[in-house]
Amino acid sequence: MNPPASPIGKDLVGLEPLSRQQILTILDTAEPFKEISERRIKKVPVLRGKTIVNLFFEASTRTRVSFEFAEKRLSADTVNISASGSSVVKGETLVDTARNLEAMRIDMVVIRHGSSGAARFLAERIPSNVVNAGDGRHEHPTQALLDLLTIRDHMGRIEGLRVCIVGDILHSRVARSNIYGLLKLGAEVAVCGPPTLLPYAIQELGVQVFTRVEDAIAWADVLNVLRLQLERMHGGYVPSLREYNRVWGITNQRLEAAGRDLLILHPGPMNRGVEIDSDVADGPHSVILNQVTNGVAVRMAVLYLLAGGQPERAEAAKEGVEA
Ligand code: CP
Repeated sequence: MNPPASPIGKDLVGLEPLSRQQILTILDTAEPFKEISERRIKKVPVLRGKTIVNLFFEASTRTRVSFEFAEKRLSADTVNISASGSSVVKGETLVDTARNLEAMRIDMVVIRHGSSGAARFLAERIPSNVVNAGDGRHEHPTQALLDLLTIRDHMGRIEGLRVCIVGDILHSRVARSNIYGLLKLGAEVAVCGPPTLLPYAIQELGVQVFTRVEDAIAWADVLNVLRLQLERMHGGYVPSLREYNRVWGITNQRLEAAGRDLLILHPGPMNRGVEIDSDVADGPHSVILNQVTNGVAVRMAVLYLLAGGQPERAEAAKEGVEA
């Protein structure tokens, strides 16, 4: 008998192709999975017998470790491959690498790649489920899902909230995935940053644009602060890091001027003293580490659903009750 169809499709390459209901299904499925990481023995048999390859062609701390914890806590067998230690350095193509892995009978591939579109390219060419762990400037869907879950946890809702994404929007896959997800769930969305770091015609995605960070802070309920992606910059996008902090940095002084509390998110890694000051990052309204904690539950939910798990069975599945 064929396994039941996944309610979110074969792959997760981005939030743009997902419906509002599919996004809510992932967030709601993550809720029961949160508790697994609080147990003394953090392991349930939900993905027993599944083999997952984590294919990371770009540096990562949070996403790579979070996927690996999610996989191990659901009892999947996992293999980690990085570009530097693989035959990619000998010239093997992405598809050949994946097809050779498939010849060893894998079930899923989690991929981070420097090229926009790499996850979709792979998903269209191999039968295994493909999960995008960040592709170039395109999308980072599980980051946006964990951001959405964290906002919902702390604000009680997403619909009607004003969320501003501040910083290097131009190079950010996190910004794109957040924009798609937040708009589908009914938030008002804005971006704010130096004009050199805003994509051309970004308004066409349905977002408002602020070019003064003080105006963004006065408008928003939630700030999602992004780092300057210096490794993707080949030119003078900002005069200096000190100047960036002076004009665009999220500081306590700027937040206090708003006269009300804003929820502060940052996907990491942070450049303290550049896009965000330490007293904000470590302050009472920061949920940056809550985001990291939620990342494991969100990734468990994505893996469970792609494997054919049904949302209404998640609670029973994590208690080891067979469907
Ligand atoms: N947020 C994020 O993607 O962090 P890493 O690059 O450390 O995975």
